[in-house]
Formats: sequence, C-alpha cells, structure tokens
Amino acid sequence: MMMRFDVVTLFPGLFRILLDDGVIGRAIGRGVAELHLWNPRDFTQDPHRVVDDRPYGGGPGMVMKVAPLRDAIAAARAAAPASRVAYLSPQGRLLRQPQMIEIARQPGWILLAGRYEGVDERLIEGCVDEEWSIGDYVLSGGELAAMVVMDAVIRLLPGALGHGESAVQDSHSDGLLDWPHYTRPPEIDGRAVPPVLISGDHAAIERWRSLQALGRTWQRRPDLLQQRGLSDEERALLEEFVRSHHRDEIG
Ligand code: ADE
Repeated sequence: MMMRFDVVTLFPGLFRILLDDGVIGRAIGRGVAELHLWNPRDFTQDPHRVVDDRPYGGGPGMVMKVAPLRDAIAAARAAAPASRVAYLSPQGRLLRQPQMIEIARQPGWILLAGRYEGVDERLIEGCVDEEWSIGDYVLSGGELAAMVVMDAVIRLLPGALGHGESAVQDSHSDGLLDWPHYTRPPEIDGRAVPPVLISGDHAAIERWRSLQALGRTWQRRPDLLQQRGLSDEERALLEEFVRSHHRDEIG
C-alpha cells in the first residue's frame, strides 16, 4: 500500500535531498511513497507573509503563529483525509524502531516541521494528533527530524528495498544491534575475516551472527537487553560470548 507524506515546512527545498537518495528516492520514484510539501508562508494573508511573532511573556526568539500553520494543515488534510498529523519536537514521544514500524502501518502522515522557538501551543492543541522526538537533543528545525522519520519508515514499506534486501534483518528490528559485516578481500592490513564466515557452514554462520548481535548489544547497549529479555538459547549464546570476551581480556 502506498504511503503518503505531507510535510508542512517553511523550507520545502530541503526535502529534495530525500528524492536524491538511493533507497528513498527510488521508493518515491516507484510510487511506494508519495511526498507533498506545504509552505505555511503560502497561507498568510498579509503582504509581508509573516509566519512568526514575538512570544507572549517575553524572552528571546520567535514563535510560529497559529493561522498560517492551521490553514496549511487544513489544506493538507483536505488532500490527505486518511492522514494523521504529527509535530516534530524535542518535547515529543521518543521514536525508536518499534514506533517506526507502527508509523509505517498508517496510510499517511502530515508532518509539521517547526522553526524558531517552536509553535504556538494552541496550534498543537487544535490541529496535532501526535508529537514526536527523534532524540534528546535540539535541532534548529523539525525538517531534519521529519526526514529521519520518513527515511526510517519508507525503507520498511513493501517494495522499498531492492531484490533480496529486507528490513526484517535490520539491526533493532529484533531489539538487538547488528552483527559485524565483512566483504572481500579475506585479509587486509593484517586483519582477517572471521573464518566461520568463509566456512560455507550456514548453520554455524547464523549461530555466529546471533552470538555477535547478542554480545555487541550486551557490550554497547545493555539497556536494550534489559528491556527485551532473552530466550534460553540466547542466554546460552551470550554466556559463550561473555566467556570468550573474558578470555580475550585476560589472555
Ligand atoms: N525539532 C527540534 N529538535 C527535534 C528533535 N530532537 N526531534 C524532533 N523534532 C525536533
């Protein structure tokens, strides 16, 4: 099913980068996803096309006005009646891979990218269904965040990845980090490919990859393992990784 994105942004030109990208550009070119851009400046009624104003209560920076955003969202809603509206902001719900999978299940999204200090809270109350953050840091606008979400979501859609590729094998899709990857030559600068990968033993390769994914998650992101839990088989693999890791440190 085709996924429709409508983005409300003062900088529609920035989104060209998505169309130039390999995977995402191709997916959009093939009709797996559609991108429509709405500039709130086109929905102003004054000659100076003003979209921002000083904050009530004082302080630095400017706030995006309700009316141009409200009218731009209304136009996007009329064009995409099945879509929900999401505002990108550091105050939003933190998006991880499971949320990206949920987002990919909807027919479409109207993404609101803010600028300046943010948007008038009444616009959020009146027009926004969800508020999303891509991480605990502050960007200078929501555009990059909207592009991050679109990239992460579009590559999950059926037909987005090329032949033989699959998002099912992605790191994070099973709550673990990815295993290490290697390509030719078998040895370079004194570093060899792990022998199991050139053994031709597919069961052993699969087992090694699981071991590495579990081990790296344990080393780098123990918080993910804590949340996820382990099967008995995975616990045994991880114990094997920990033992050999320990040996490496001592020996
Ligand atoms: N806009 C500014 N910072 C952001 C963030 N971390 N996530 C989503 N939107 C943002």
